[in-house]
Amino acid sequence: MAILPCFGIFCSLIFLFSMKASLAADTMTTASFIRDGEKLTSSSQRFELGFFSPGKSKSRYLGIWFRRVPDTVVWVANRDRPISGRNAVLTISNNGNLVLLSQTNGTIWSTNVSSDVKNPVAQLRDDGNLVIRDNSSDSTAESYLWQSFDHPSDTLLQDMKLGWDFKSGLERLLSSWQSAEDPSPGRYTYGLDIHVLPKMCTFNGSVKFTCSGQWDGTGFVSALSYTNFIYKQFMTENKDEFVYWYEAYNRPSIMTLKLNPSGFVTRQIWDENSNKWDELFSVPDQYCGKYGYCGANTICSLDQTPMCECLEGFKLKSQVNQTRPIKCERSHSSECTRGTQFKKLDNVKAPDFINVSLNQSMNLEQCAAECLKNCTCKAYANSNVTEGSGCLMWYGDLLDSRRPIRNFTGQSVYLQVPTSESGNKKLLWILVVLVLPLVLLPSFYIFCRRRRKCKEKETENTETNQDLLAFDINMGITTRTNEFGEVNGDGKDKGKDSWLPLFSLASVAAATENFSMQCKLGEGGFGPVYKGRLFNGQEVAVKRLSSQSGQGLKEFKNEMMLIAELQHRNLVRILGCCVEQGEKILILEYMPNKSLDVYLFGM
Ligand SMILES: *[C@@H]1O[C@H](CO)[C@@H](O)[C@H](O)[C@H]1NC(C)=O
Ligand SMILES: *[C@@H]1O[C@H](CO)[C@@H](O)[C@H](O)[C@H]1NC(C)=O
Ligand SMILES: *[C@@H]1O[C@H](CO)[C@@H](O)[C@H](O)[C@H]1NC(C)=O
Ligand SMILES: *[C@@H]1O[C@H](CO)[C@@H](O)[C@H](O)[C@H]1NC(C)=O
Ligand SMILES: *[C@@H]1O[C@H](CO)[C@@H](O)[C@H](O)[C@H]1NC(C)=O
Ligand SMILES: *[C@@H]1O[C@H](CO)[C@@H](O)[C@H](O)[C@H]1NC(C)=O
Ligand SMILES: *[C@@H]1O[C@H](CO)[C@@H](O)[C@H](O)[C@H]1NC(C)=O
Ligand SMILES: *[C@@H]1O[C@H](CO)[C@@H](O)[C@H](O)[C@H]1NC(C)=O
Ligand SMILES: *[C@@H]1O[C@H](CO)[C@@H](O)[C@H](O)[C@H]1NC(C)=O
Ligand SMILES: *[C@@H]1O[C@H](CO)[C@@H](O)[C@H](O)[C@H]1NC(C)=O
Repeated sequence: MAILPCFGIFCSLIFLFSMKASLAADTMTTASFIRDGEKLTSSSQRFELGFFSPGKSKSRYLGIWFRRVPDTVVWVANRDRPISGRNAVLTISNNGNLVLLSQTNGTIWSTNVSSDVKNPVAQLRDDGNLVIRDNSSDSTAESYLWQSFDHPSDTLLQDMKLGWDFKSGLERLLSSWQSAEDPSPGRYTYGLDIHVLPKMCTFNGSVKFTCSGQWDGTGFVSALSYTNFIYKQFMTENKDEFVYWYEAYNRPSIMTLKLNPSGFVTRQIWDENSNKWDELFSVPDQYCGKYGYCGANTICSLDQTPMCECLEGFKLKSQVNQTRPIKCERSHSSECTRGTQFKKLDNVKAPDFINVSLNQSMNLEQCAAECLKNCTCKAYANSNVTEGSGCLMWYGDLLDSRRPIRNFTGQSVYLQVPTSESGNKKLLWILVVLVLPLVLLPSFYIFCRRRRKCKEKETENTETNQDLLAFDINMGITTRTNEFGEVNGDGKDKGKDSWLPLFSLASVAAATENFSMQCKLGEGGFGPVYKGRLFNGQEVAVKRLSSQSGQGLKEFKNEMMLIAELQHRNLVRILGCCVEQGEKILILEYMPNKSLDVYLFGM
């Protein structure tokens, strides 16, 4: 670019027009320019464009500010190229570009309009937008070749849009000043995050610093807002753009949304009476508002102590001296052995949309059903909060959930809660209550049947008198494994009730040498236990429930319950019983080992 000749022309122009002030004008043409000290003023005197020095800085910048509040600069042209002297000028070149020139350094800053422009005009509009347009009759009035609203600094004004222009691929973001005296871009940016569902996020470099909840149609879930009486917010999504903007109800009011050098986004409104800014809010707060303040799988509640807690279904990794962020892991070791319950969390800001799936046509019930199907699904919620529709499911760590301060409205999130330890105990109780009767009832039925048979059999042949002696434990155990199974194929009458063979008192007496003291192993709460010997040399334990102490069916039932449990644990097996002449005798597997004694006698 031929800067020098151009620059020479401007030098002479400066000299030539030095007496001509363009103070009240809002428009620049190729024939006009602005020097340091001069301004463009928008038509109804709301905004001014000119040169300024921030704070104590000596550097000069070209900027835009509210005429009523000159100290609050809302846009800066040469953010990272300060001008050292007061000799710069702004002009519009023949090719339609605004150019900031300094006498010593040439072009400091310039727009980048590349189209062929016949009659370029720059105008400071009354909304604070500095625009370049073609004023020739054949160009459409409202199409701008360039506008400062597309290149925001740290301030969002009314009608300015944050977000994506898909046609140009332009993303409009606020970027913080380096410091109050240095408008060069700092480390913080603020903009519309359109990943999954739209929300506003501030980044510290490439790291999230704070995020709002998702857009709910009039505002952001759980975010502070005054949308009902001070300003309205808008979100537009179509093929051309996906943008956010706002508008005050009282349009002429002076309002800004500013990203300050330390990353805080402040919405303020100018109080005409006291002549100062009124701060509506500043985000984030020092705690929960900060992204992931408490760590993964936590919930942060500003008004609770401790502020950071593990979400339901997660537990602290270690109890000792947890500093923030705390570490929470699933309270269940295996991800897949979770229960089928959901815990509803009311009025919260949902976790960030990382590793989520979204289906906007599903309802909450379908969402729950879908979440249940996949053991990696940790939580679900409605995606459209106001409508109560749509389905969001989280598969990864749950980051950045918080309870909104005071009563700003959040949403409901349903956490998949793994079966807890107490849940397991419950399950055991259910087993005990439901399954044991199932086990015991048939056995009592059999017992009773047997008892009747016993009486019938008393008159039968004497072969039965040797039944226990001739018994084979291993076979008995084999048949016992079929205890709830079908009738044994061997057609024997006993096969039907094979799970509990009934032995004759005579054979039991023979095996225990007529209940001799030598065979007695010990005495438990319900009676003595004897060791019995069978023909094949196998040994059995014979428990003779004492009839003296008035034990009846109830005690027998208790015994059965105990044995049933023992059997369940495979510690001791019941081989059969004998109910004859008022005797109630259990024949048990004999294990010559102390622990068995404990089970047999210690009650
Ligand atoms: C302008 O020129 C001066 C002197 O050469 C130099 O010190 C200063 O850094 C330059 N400024 C810019 C923005 O290039
Ligand atoms: C200006 O725009 C042209 C084309 O649109 C592009 O090639 C060039 O890199 C841009 N220059 C700057 C400084 O952005
Ligand atoms: C724009 O063009 C119209 C006529 O076409 C003219 O009257 C008006 O002064 C022009 N505006 C500027 C700022 O040059
Ligand atoms: C922003 O990031 C920088 C660099 O990682 C870090 O030093 C600084 O503390 C962060 N700021 C805040 C407010 O967290
Ligand atoms: C929620 O659903 C309603 C009805 O379909 C729709 O008008 C509204 O835009 C949706 N809200 C959001 C935030 O998508
Ligand atoms: C916990 O913190 C206290 C005080 O900060 C310290 O005295 C103590 O040793 C810590 N305990 C452990 C287990 O780290
Ligand atoms: C969303 O859910 C509906 C209803 O369950 C289903 O028909 C549709 O295929 C789903 N869409 C996606 C993208 O999964
Ligand atoms: C569970 O969800 C994850 C994440 O969406 C997916 O990769 C996985 O295939 C799903 N598993 C089943 C069984 O649907
Ligand atoms: C999301 O999934 C990826 C891939 O499975 C994993 O590396 C990442 O840690 C997950 N993020 C969260 C927040 O769970
Ligand atoms: C909370 O809600 C109640 C009733 O809805 C309202 O009176 C109160 O002002 C609200 N408080 C805040 C801090 O918004």
